[in-house]
Formats: sequence, structure tokens, C-alpha cells
Amino acid sequence: MNKKTVKDIDLKEKKVIVRCDFNVPMDENKMITDNTRIVAVLPTIQYLLENNCAIILCSHLGRPKGEFKPEYSLKPVAKELEKLLGKEVVMANDVIGEDAKSKAEALQNGQVMLLENVRFHKEETDNDLNFAKQLAEMAEIYVNDAFGSAHRAHSSTAGIAEFLPAVAGFLIEKELKFLGDAITNPERPYVAILGGAKVSDKIGVIDNLLEKVNTLIIGGGMAYTFFKAQGYEVGNSICELDKLDLAKELMKKAEEKGVKLLLPIDTKIGKSEELKGETKTVKYNEIPKDWEGFDIGEESIKLFIQELKNAKTVVWNGPLGLFEVDQFAIGTNEIAKALAEMNGTTIIGGGDSAAAVKKIGLEDKMTHISTGGGASLEFLEGKKLPGIECLLEK
Ligand code: 3PG
Repeated sequence: MNKKTVKDIDLKEKKVIVRCDFNVPMDENKMITDNTRIVAVLPTIQYLLENNCAIILCSHLGRPKGEFKPEYSLKPVAKELEKLLGKEVVMANDVIGEDAKSKAEALQNGQVMLLENVRFHKEETDNDLNFAKQLAEMAEIYVNDAFGSAHRAHSSTAGIAEFLPAVAGFLIEKELKFLGDAITNPERPYVAILGGAKVSDKIGVIDNLLEKVNTLIIGGGMAYTFFKAQGYEVGNSICELDKLDLAKELMKKAEEKGVKLLLPIDTKIGKSEELKGETKTVKYNEIPKDWEGFDIGEESIKLFIQELKNAKTVVWNGPLGLFEVDQFAIGTNEIAKALAEMNGTTIIGGGDSAAAVKKIGLEDKMTHISTGGGASLEFLEGKKLPGIECLLEK
């Protein structure tokens, strides 16, 4: 990585503001249901503690749209951090208000504090530089470890770097290593598996990966747009009629680039109004009019697994079916199991594919599971991420 990290700067006994992505899922009682993103930043926090820094953590949670909304408070995160760190985390009641400022000023070396949800201010998402300056004034060094938010050009992810020396934390370093190697230096054969509902969400990533991979496997809802583009009936399956030409172009590009494009050869179908009702498996080109495809079928699973057996690098983004419903989670689960048994490098883009892997307890069997949903997708599209670009060059 050509960006400076916490190891490349003297931060001993300094006041450091660390942007984290603590945008974690919570249940209706505000209990955190998956603390992965919090655990992922601990190595950076520990390192700063070893260097006797005073640590000000900052994050968003959800999209409160610039208003103070208690349901978006980061207080549950402070509690979780206290548990994980085994020490007090001072919680500020605001972001750049009196409470935050006075607590930041009083913060001693070796102490940790957390600001309230930075998106309680509209200025955050506007990347307002005056707001960024006020955040910066609380500290001497800025560390960005919020990989999940690195695709956002916001005050606390990018703007703040105009006012403080800015370096990456260990999580960002790790994410860029795994995702970066997969993009620039993959061991081959290199296979990408892309799923999810819509082609329109994945155009950039398909386009970019067609320049790099040996095989591209497409599953999930977007496969039906590819079937329709070839003139087949897809029944009530999700299908983007305005993306048929694009699907054809992508198939043509795969051919031109010598990339093996694998689409499902069969599909498990059901009725949308009764997702837990009757299902059957049909060939990809035999979907009856009033049925809907929700998963890949057994023959597709076999075909895809066969392809994965020889792979040395696999990048996976997006589930292969409606994995939230058990009877349509089989394709996604079987592919996850096949990846878990692979010898090569397995990289899971964040979001739904990460959730699917965790749901069946295979997270420890993957080389890397990204903590970024949108961020990892944009990275795989080959885009520059503002939260990374703003950091100091090595
Ligand atoms: C995420 O969950 O992908 C990140 O926290 C970014 O959230 P956002 O899409 O609301 O910017």
C-alpha cells in the first residue's frame, strides 16, 4: 500500500481522532446483533493504547439525515467497546458541541472516548470543511480505519484530512491488501462469483472484473436478466428489461476477453406470494409464466463447484438466491461450503455475501471477509475511494 499507516507516523502520547465504521446491525432493543465491525478496529485501538495515545473515536450509524435521533445513538457501541477493550469508554453526548469538546480536551493519554453519531450533523455528508475543521481541532492526528465508509467523501472520512496528518489504521491496510491483491496480482485461475438482485448494481464490477478474471460466475436475481437477454421466458422472476442490451454487451465482452462466463443452468422456482410454499427446479430456459426463480438449482451448484475446485483465487460478492428464506438459501450455502474447503485465497465482499457466510458459521474458513459492502464493491469496480485517497503518501 502506498499510503502511510499508524506505523509510519510518530503518534506517541498524541491525541488521535480515529474514524471507524461502527454502522452495526442492532435489534429492536438496541442490542448489537453482529459486532464484526467493532472487533475489526480493535488492533488499531490497541496499538494506539500501546503508544499511550488519547483516543477519540468517531463513526456514523445508519442514516439519521442530519438530525439528532436517539434511535441512532452510538451509546450501545460504547458499551460493546467497553466490554471488548476491558476499559471505560467515555461517551460524548454530541459531536462537535460543548460536551464533546470539553470531554475531548480533558481526555488523558491511555483513555478512549466515542463521539456521538457524526451524521447527526447534515454537514458531515455534505463534506463541509468547517465541520471537518471542528472535528480536527479536537486532535493532533487523524487515523482512518473506516473501510466500510471509505467510498464516502464526507467530512469525517475525507474532509478532515485537510487539517491533520492523515494515516490509515490496520483494518484499512488489511482490506486493501486482500482486495488489492485480488485486483492487481491474483493467483490464477481467478474466479469471481457475482450475485444479488440487480445487474444495475453490479455493472461496474462485472465490467472491471471481466478485465481480470479467468471465470465469471453469475447467479442471484440478476441471472434472470441475462436469460431474458438471450430471449428466454423468465416468468415472474426479477428482471431488468432496460438492462437487456447491457447484459448482451457484457456477454460479448466476456467472449472477447476470453473469460468463461458461467450462468446457472437450472433454477429453483416458487410463487412470490407464498415463499415458503411449493417449489420445483427447472432448466434455466423452462421457467413457467406464473412462477418465479429464487435460487440456482442442483445442476448449477455442481457446475459452479466444479469450476471452484481448480481456482486459486475467488472473489465473491452477492448471494446466489433469496438466502433469507431457507428453501432458497441452498445455492448460496453450498457455494459458501465449497469456498470453505478450497485451498486458494477466498475473498468475500461485504454486505449480504458476508452475512450469508456468517449465517452458516463459515467465516473462519475464508481468507478474508471485507467489512465494507458498498466500499468493497466500489473498490472492485476499480474506483478510487475518497477515504483512502486523502491519506498521506508513503
Ligand atoms: C455501510 O454499511 O455500507 C457503511 O457503513 C456505509 O453506510 P452508508 O451507505 O449509509 O454510507
